[in-house]
Amino acid sequence: MSPTEQSVLDAAYMARALELARKGVYSTHPNPRVGCVIVRDGEIVGEGWHVRAGEPHAEVHALRHAGEKARGATAYVTLEPCSHHGRTPPCADALVNAGVARVVAAMQDPNPDVAGRGLLRLMSAGIAVQSGVLEGEARAINKGFLKRMEHGLPYVRVKLAMSLDGRTAMASGQSQWITGPQARSAVQRLRAQSSVVLTGADTVLADHARLTVRPDELDLSAELTALAVTRPPLRVLIDGRLRVPLDAPFFKAGSALVVTCAAASARERYHEEGHEMLALASSGGHVDLRKLLVELASRGVNDVLVEAGPRLAGAFTRLGLVDEFQIFVAGKFMGSSARPLLDLPLAQMSEAMELKIIEMRAVGNDWRVIAIPAHGPSV
Ligand SMILES: NC(=O)c1ccc[n+]([C@@H]2O[C@H](COP(=O)([O-])OP(=O)(O)OC[C@H]3O[C@@H](n4cnc5c(N)ncnc54)[C@H](OP(=O)(O)O)[C@@H]3O)[C@@H](O)[C@H]2O)c1
Repeated sequence: MSPTEQSVLDAAYMARALELARKGVYSTHPNPRVGCVIVRDGEIVGEGWHVRAGEPHAEVHALRHAGEKARGATAYVTLEPCSHHGRTPPCADALVNAGVARVVAAMQDPNPDVAGRGLLRLMSAGIAVQSGVLEGEARAINKGFLKRMEHGLPYVRVKLAMSLDGRTAMASGQSQWITGPQARSAVQRLRAQSSVVLTGADTVLADHARLTVRPDELDLSAELTALAVTRPPLRVLIDGRLRVPLDAPFFKAGSALVVTCAAASARERYHEEGHEMLALASSGGHVDLRKLLVELASRGVNDVLVEAGPRLAGAFTRLGLVDEFQIFVAGKFMGSSARPLLDLPLAQMSEAMELKIIEMRAVGNDWRVIAIPAHGPSV
């Protein structure tokens, strides 16, 4: 087989491994999504994907599936096999013991516990190793894990729904519903994919928001719905002065992490009701959002979904903490007295924030625009 034919086949098998990895989008947190395909004599003999932290990695599932057929085979893995003893034994050793002849990885694992040592372990056992096949696609399914490993911060997505004239709530604060049921299902899926869903006191007060994942609105297969609900995201409320009462639907929906500037005496009641309290004041009198993100990353949080109004979403934006905006646009005008998308006071065109639109597609009767800051977040 020529090198070109081999690289076409490598890309095709890696594409299948990536498809398997994507099945873990709702469940692997805090671990990365990983898929593996084992091929011998032009035939797929084993497939696997990582389902949940603490359970076997993708390689182990695929090797079990392949059995004796793994001997002399090629393993395609979307992330470098691990080399350390975590909650499960090293996958590099499992591949060596199974007698695999060649390993193709989409990318190296930036996790300092691995960082090239998995590939070295394979090479030192005489296995042919190649890395970098469909690396861009592999990075795209683990944006949060990679940002945490490489920068010590989670990947921050800000989701907002707006009218065609760029408005997010009426002057009274009323904002339900701007978009239709399909867009709301898409938001439910975004929640289910996130480690954290974060909002502010005024959104909870105005919308009676609970920020839960509602299985009947996910519009997923039974298998994926079951995975999505077994690991609900942590709900985080920014409430600088503890204005949201404990009998609000947000608190009735389960325990949450409340981030505040309030004194210890005021935090006590929330703590007693089973909510975790985190005091993180900034010099500006609000919660320190950057410190909060560092804290969340240290707890293994990969992806944060911010579902807030213009003030809090604007604060994240002004601080350069946003990796991605997901803006759902409805075909309606809400008028000039309604509230804007973001509180972002700018005076000159030269100050306008440049974005790169990376995706735009219809979702029911609405549109979804995915945009990233043209100059990246400030990490
Ligand atoms: N269309 C949409 O997608 C959408 C989504 C959500 C909400 N909404 C609407 O938006 C309105 C509420 O928006 P909002 O932004 O005022 O409320 P919000 O999302 O609750 O944000 C206000 C919260 O952010 C905090 N905050 C403000 N500036 C900050 C800063 N610089 N640093 C850290 N924290 C800061 C405030 O702190 P303190 O606690 O210290 O005051 C407050 O807790 C409601 O009418 C709601 O219906 C629309």
